[in-house]
Amino acid sequence: MPVPDPQIEVVISAEKLSARIRELGREIARDYTGKDLVLIGVLKGSFVFLADLCRAIDLPLSVEFLGVASYGDETQSSGAVQITSDLTRPLEGKHALLVEDIVDTGLTIEYLRESFASRHPASLKLASLLHKPSRTKRPTTIDYLGFTIPDEFVIGYGLDYAQKFRNLPYVGRIVSKSASAGGF
Ligand code: IMP
Ligand code: MG
Repeated sequence: MPVPDPQIEVVISAEKLSARIRELGREIARDYTGKDLVLIGVLKGSFVFLADLCRAIDLPLSVEFLGVASYGDETQSSGAVQITSDLTRPLEGKHALLVEDIVDTGLTIEYLRESFASRHPASLKLASLLHKPSRTKRPTTIDYLGFTIPDEFVIGYGLDYAQKFRNLPYVGRIVSKSASAGGF
């Protein structure tokens, strides 16, 4: 489906994102002091959040990325999760913190938790910028959560619609003719 000429409404402003991420960073720094922390960004959506979050954590840490495909260019989860690019270092003995843009159905993150358990990290936790609890199919614990949002499709700050809009500095929603006609 081609992207319509969209009008975008701000859902969470850049200022609110930045203030909340500073809080999360302080919390994570307190919890992981003295521990070998590795942040694992789940691509692609988490790259903007991870870039800001890692700079809000005043600790020595390392960063890894994991490529995961759970959505095509659709707004609905297929339920199928595929690792398209793996970590570059073993996780054994490290304190792993998965960094997600959004937990929607929970299918992606629960799949990752299961597949990471066999890599024997010292601990495995989750930080997610957003959560849509009304869409849960597999319940999951979010240890560090930015914001809870209602069941609507959001874009920006790393989140895409058909691979676009990731570079918006805020989280927004698309308001367009097709959206009000039920296109989303
Ligand atoms: P889940 O497996 O249903 O929890 O979906 C996780 C992934 O779906 C996220 O990491 C996003 O890439 C994508 N996703 C879910 N909801 C949205 C949304 O509202 N906007 C953009 N991407 C979304
Ligand atoms: Mg996506």
